[in-house]
Amino acid sequence: MQVFLSFLIGCKKPYYKACARNYVFITDNSFYNFFENMKFFIDTANIKEIQEAYDLGVLDGVTTNPSLCAKEGISDFDAFIGEVCDIVQGPVSAEVVSVDYKGMMEEAHRVAKISEHVVVKVPLIKEGIKVIKTLSDEGIKTNCTLCFSPNQALVAAKAGANYISPFVGRLDDISTSGMQLIQEIVDIYGNYDLDTEVLVASIRHPMHMVEAAQMGADVATMPFGVIEKLISHPLTDIGLEKFLADWDKLQKSL
Ligand code: G3P
Repeated sequence: MQVFLSFLIGCKKPYYKACARNYVFITDNSFYNFFENMKFFIDTANIKEIQEAYDLGVLDGVTTNPSLCAKEGISDFDAFIGEVCDIVQGPVSAEVVSVDYKGMMEEAHRVAKISEHVVVKVPLIKEGIKVIKTLSDEGIKTNCTLCFSPNQALVAAKAGANYISPFVGRLDDISTSGMQLIQEIVDIYGNYDLDTEVLVASIRHPMHMVEAAQMGADVATMPFGVIEKLISHPLTDIGLEKFLADWDKLQKSL
């Protein structure tokens, strides 16, 4: 068993999953999560927030989108992406805004040149799938965005997307379970030799994070406010205040 486990650890995720499923019949995802660490990305185009999240020491990457860029008034997109890559030194998603194959490919090649950390974010539409396939063949990393169904996620993975971004909050907004979609994608990808990482997007609150981690999602991208909420707890604040007050009393009594 020990030799088998060492072999699995040395394998890429899909292979050890496939091996474990076939030879020891383990179907519980928590077994596989033992081999990997969940990645935290920040979902923002605000440089101050990116720097602050990075300074925490737990940030692995950044996702941006045209709406987030518009909110921050980003005028030079390429310079902005370059700055973010310099700070984070990890995957930074830069989204294309064309919707035709040629236009998306031109944008993808342009932004991919900015830094080795750039991941080209491509919408989950027919032309986008073709773009992902070509970029995958060229060795350019992609994040397939605007995913709302398991079938979309399956097609994106077949095309070779490095990340799939299912939008959980937007599904919740229309009375559909966003987290159920994550579970479905995690299960489907776990059945096959698919390298695509499940990147939970449109996270709105800390419970999305708890569930994403329980389901074994590879990555969660969240607004700065959610990162702060992951850390804070009222009982921690009350407890700390009491510890410090008692320590102060002790000092005064000495
Ligand atoms: O970056 C894509 C996604 O995270 C957007 O989130 O809150 O606009 O649905 P939201």
